[in-house]
Amino acid sequence: MTEKYFLLQDEAAGESIRLSVRESVQGPPAIDVSRLYRDSGIFTYDPGFMSTASCESRITYINGEAGVLEYRGYPIEQLAAQADFIEVAYLLLYGELPNAEQLQRFDHLITYHTMLNETLKNFFSGFHYDAHPMAIMVGVVGSLSAFYHDSLDIDNPRHREISAHRLIAKMPTIAAASYKHNIGEPIVYPRNDLSYCGNLLRMMYATPCEEYQPDPVAERALNLLFILHADHEQNASTSTVRLAGSSQANPFACIAAGIASLWGPAHGGANEAVLNMLTEIGDVANIDKYIAKAKDKNDTFRLMGFGHRVYKNYDPRAGILREMCLEVLEKLADSNNPMFELALKLEEIALSDEYFVERKLYPNVDFYSGIIYRALGIPNNMFTVMFAIGRTVGWVAHWMEMMSDPLQNIGRPRQIYKGAPRRDYVPLDKR
Ligand code: CMC
Repeated sequence: MTEKYFLLQDEAAGESIRLSVRESVQGPPAIDVSRLYRDSGIFTYDPGFMSTASCESRITYINGEAGVLEYRGYPIEQLAAQADFIEVAYLLLYGELPNAEQLQRFDHLITYHTMLNETLKNFFSGFHYDAHPMAIMVGVVGSLSAFYHDSLDIDNPRHREISAHRLIAKMPTIAAASYKHNIGEPIVYPRNDLSYCGNLLRMMYATPCEEYQPDPVAERALNLLFILHADHEQNASTSTVRLAGSSQANPFACIAAGIASLWGPAHGGANEAVLNMLTEIGDVANIDKYIAKAKDKNDTFRLMGFGHRVYKNYDPRAGILREMCLEVLEKLADSNNPMFELALKLEEIALSDEYFVERKLYPNVDFYSGIIYRALGIPNNMFTVMFAIGRTVGWVAHWMEMMSDPLQNIGRPRQIYKGAPRRDYVPLDKR
């Protein structure tokens, strides 16, 4: 195959630079500018990474124009309909679907790493009773690095794998403990005979006085939500994990950085913001007023759960969750749920509005996830924590991929300096 090049022309100097092209298996190719500065002394400028591929990856593929999402080549619709979250976790980590024996071994490994060191429990009581559970998550997950000195050699592939398993396994325990601290109840220990999602539900809802039997509908809904949240290629939090990891930081610190990045309302915090928004809108009669606010450039209000940097079509995850919403509401709550009615109407009005049509703003994964979480009895401030549990698999898979790349280098963007030019120091009495 002939190699493709682009020519970058410096018109004033009458010179040009040949830039090679890196092809994708699917998706657009990328012009390789990695040697541009060394060869020509110029940078490229792309704040927000609008046109920049930051790495090569084999994990997830998205076609935003067509609304396609694939994990390791498997369409999200097929995984959502047929797979178990633990199976998807294996797929993302190791690249292939597990056979029955591999799945059983992996499931066992994850199940048997769910307990927390007893000392770690003290960290929770250091937080004020009304601390946001995401604040607790950032702190406690980062502090795991103070406990597992036996597996912190990031150059050792086996150590990396053990850390990956520990993170996936302990995340629900930490999440449930954050919730329990928030509502002032004692922490519930994990049970090894329950599924990943069943265990999480029990750790959230059981008390020392009352056992909790996970509802299979709730378990299935969580399983689906975690599959849909598991990975989304180089989003803000995953890129944060990669950047933190590129300095050779330990995996627990890197994932804590990812959790912090996920928290923002433009990213994983949107599911909490959607429910707050629907509560604020309150009634179908108020939708027009809020649509007008969302379109007003002098108003900071945005339609939460709408729009996406990559999807310029219906987010495939939102379509799957819309269906699941109906099922969960019918079986666990009320299918005439006013919040769901409001969301459907809001979606209908926005999708026919010229402003949203022109900008290709469609519902994203967070538009319906909050309604499902609410129907499962999960409070608003835990929504982003739930997202973090599912996404931990993706973060860890990307960290593992990056760390096993021998060419991996520290991530170090450059800048266009716009500050004061060089000047001399003025002594205090002369200012
Ligand atoms: N409501 C109103 N206008 C919007 C919205 C919205 N939700 N989203 C984008 N726009 C407008 C924006 O004002 C801009 O208009 P104009 O071209 O006139 O300046 C245009 O659409 C393009 O938007 P952008 O902000 O340049 O696009 P972006 O790719 O930088 O931002 C986004 C993507 C997700 C941050 C943004 O759409 C947004 O803030 N949405 C609401 C928050 C949300 O739901 N986030 C969850 C994302 S999905 C879960 C995840 O993976 O994290």
